[in-house]
Amino acid sequence: MPSQNPEHLNTVKGMDMELTLNNGVTMPALGLGVFQSAPEQTTAAVEAALTTGYRHIDTAAAYGNEREVGDGIRSSSLDRSEVFIETKVWVSDYGYDHTLHAWDKATGKLRVDYLDLLILHQPAPDRFEKTIAAYKALETLLADGRVRAIGVSNFMPHHLERLLASTNIVPAVNQIELHPYFTQPDVQATDAGHGILTQAWSPIGGITFYPGWGGEDRRNVMEDQTITAIARTHSKSPAQVMLRWHLQQGRSAIPKSTNPARIAENFDVFDFELGAAELAAIDALDTGNRNGPDPDQARPERFAMVIPEA
Ligand SMILES: NC(=O)c1ccc[n+]([C@@H]2O[C@H](COP(=O)([O-])OP(=O)(O)OC[C@H]3O[C@@H](n4cnc5c(N)ncnc54)[C@H](OP(=O)(O)O)[C@@H]3O)[C@@H](O)[C@H]2O)c1
Repeated sequence: MPSQNPEHLNTVKGMDMELTLNNGVTMPALGLGVFQSAPEQTTAAVEAALTTGYRHIDTAAAYGNEREVGDGIRSSSLDRSEVFIETKVWVSDYGYDHTLHAWDKATGKLRVDYLDLLILHQPAPDRFEKTIAAYKALETLLADGRVRAIGVSNFMPHHLERLLASTNIVPAVNQIELHPYFTQPDVQATDAGHGILTQAWSPIGGITFYPGWGGEDRRNVMEDQTITAIARTHSKSPAQVMLRWHLQQGRSAIPKSTNPARIAENFDVFDFELGAAELAAIDALDTGNRNGPDPDQARPERFAMVIPEA
């Protein structure tokens, strides 16, 4: 059963429930993702997660459900300060002034007066100067206390180097596609070298099986024999094994579910420990093949998506 009291989980199995970002802010390592959570399912999913013990929600302007995330937080008995809210600025809002206004839109929908972590959703290769200007706006929001930490998503090492060369504050987080079939060791090493926390999206490999993405040759990491064998050994599920692998390697992970049983399952990962050989066996599954969008490719139609006002 998942714990109802996460304060007591800090030292479970010698692993930190909370990660300290490079500016000293702490963030619960495990959060609930809400990509593709329909607005009408999102409030209930957030409520279920907070009841289970989650204290971190990852949303995005582009997911169209920030309002419902805010509703879910408000309908819990928790104080705003007890929940770590992470959201993302979409590309159509890049540029200094537009990104400052993106904060107004996000906080207006979430109905909060600060964000815990605000990140750029991805580099825009066709307008990188606007990406930089967007990040400078994040720096301003941080200086003004309107966000507690800032970061990026889908930044490859060369994007990070360009960003770092023209801005002042090292991102706290880089959220990237990361599951056993695609571990991006080069990005993880670059992040670590700069003190940037790597956060895994599709941490249980959603992008390897949910509909609408990838080609015919896509393999579902949930069914991988190495993962399922390790899961059997520990009487845990493949998802729990993958989440434990992230957490033991010091990453943040934000599994998505709208199903209360799976939301609870994904949080019930603090009562077992993977051995070094098991971690290495999972690391060895990396195929080097990306499933999600290539961060070096512009997607004009998608990039043009307009984020509504609050
Ligand atoms: N920055 C980016 O570009 C980016 C891109 C993608 C995702 N993200 C973020 O990362 C989060 C997680 O990634 P993701 O949604 O792509 O994939 P994921 O969390 O790896 O997998 C989600 C999928 O797995 C299913 N699922 C959840 N728990 C399960 C379990 N215990 N056993 C079996 N199936 C389970 C979910 O269905 P049910 O809901 O039916 O349980 C859903 O289809 C997103 O929600 C979003 O917040 C960010």
